[in-house]
Amino acid sequence: MSESAAIPKQNVHLAMRVNGEPAEVSFAPYKTLLEVLREDLNLPGTKHGCELGECGACAVLLDGQPVLSCLVLGLECEGREVVTVEGLTCEGKLHPLQDAFADLGAAQCGYCTPGILVTAKALLDRCPQPTREQVKEALSGNLCRCTGYLQIFEAVEAAILASPPPVVVRTDASVKPNGKPHAKRNGEARS
Ligand code: FES
Ligand code: FES
Repeated sequence: MSESAAIPKQNVHLAMRVNGEPAEVSFAPYKTLLEVLREDLNLPGTKHGCELGECGACAVLLDGQPVLSCLVLGLECEGREVVTVEGLTCEGKLHPLQDAFADLGAAQCGYCTPGILVTAKALLDRCPQPTREQVKEALSGNLCRCTGYLQIFEAVEAAILASPPPVVVRTDASVKPNGKPHAKRNGEARS
């Protein structure tokens, strides 16, 4: 197709929340979320890796779930909540995961680190006390060429220890308001 016959690509304009703040952005409609973050929202913490969905370097949280931003169109993010590695700090303080990664040598060249940090954060948000196997499983899509992974797993575990214990709120009917379980009725299985 000649250049003059090329379909004009008009920018789209949309609003989303990025790292807890409202953001409005205009960009070419073919851009991935990765490109929009880096090129249009000036958030270069999220890394370009393979751009094929294979390395995990571009991971961000979309509505709390880790996604590969190289595989998500920016257009799909209208009205949605995006968290990048830049959004992990809170009131100027590093997230416990960031502290642990720095202290334990889990970030070496650092290229994989933003994707691993946000993926680990998503894990700890849904499962505050994961086992080593659960950590490995959650990070299995994030490739690291430097560390051999052991320091990464240890850093996630150190961050768990450094975080306040989760508050468990039981709302099921087997617990009375005073926190004691209801007496079992005849024939009810013990759990
Ligand atoms: S850059 Fe997205 S998975 Fe590699
Ligand atoms: S620290 Fe270099 S790729 Fe992971």
